Amino acid sequence: MILIDGKKAAAELREELKHEVSSLKKKFNKVPGLTVILIGDLTPSQIYVRNKEKSANEVGLKSEVIRYPDTIEQKVVLEKIKELNKDDSVSGILVQLPLPKHIDKQKVIQTIDPSKDVDGFHPMNVGNLSSGYDSSIPCTPLGCYLLIKKTEPNLNGKKAVVVGRSNLNGKPMTQLLLKENCTVTITHSKTKDLKSECLKADIIVAAVGIPELVKGDWVKKETIVIDVGINKTEKGIVGDVDFDEVSKVAKALTPVPGGVGPMTIACLLKNTIDCFKRSQK
Ligand code: GUN
Repeated sequence: MILIDGKKAAAELREELKHEVSSLKKKFNKVPGLTVILIGDLTPSQIYVRNKEKSANEVGLKSEVIRYPDTIEQKVVLEKIKELNKDDSVSGILVQLPLPKHIDKQKVIQTIDPSKDVDGFHPMNVGNLSSGYDSSIPCTPLGCYLLIKKTEPNLNGKKAVVVGRSNLNGKPMTQLLLKENCTVTITHSKTKDLKSECLKADIIVAAVGIPELVKGDWVKKETIVIDVGINKTEKGIVGDVDFDEVSKVAKALTPVPGGVGPMTIACLLKNTIDCFKRSQK
């Protein structure tokens, strides 16, 4: 079994991006900038944002975090986004989710200039991705895609099963696999006989948020399995895949942690650099 090392792949990608930032700096005499807006003090969000800032600095990006208390009025956030949209030193804007209940997530996402939307959540980017045009691609599915391609470069005609249909993961993942000429089945928590769907797959991407759902007898021995899940249980953090069982049968599998997670942040840096490059054209 190949244990897909996301930590190593992310470190390699960051190294590439570091070189790219330094050549962009020479060419344009400025570096791409990432601005993250963090509202409230949820611990996981604080940790994510700190890691994003640290990685951005590591590859030489300009990085800024704007923090607001969770009582902040929506209009203040929207005004700040509009200001960042106009700021030439800002290549990418990310508003950390989840947001407090009184703030309209859709409104926030749609206020970000699509050309600075490093999350790829703006309807314009969602539409461009589904039409096969150039766009920002959500960081987690992009990270999964790069890990799959590293393991199996030719995905032509492969049968992929995506477990989970979220806007964040399942849907964009489906688009990326379709672009690679996979035959994709989107499944979810209400799918009848998920096991028999998974048994047909050459590639499984599990992003449904159910701890250890995908079992060893759901997986063929040639299958590449990507585990997007991060679930807190009494035995610690586990993925959506039963690692002990599936690692005995699959061709390749990502661990949790150390699989998809590190790639997500590296892809955010990649998206920031890509937004900068498009803006210089
Ligand atoms: N919260 C958890 N994951 C993400 C993500 O990919 N983007 C944003 N903006 N917030 C998140």
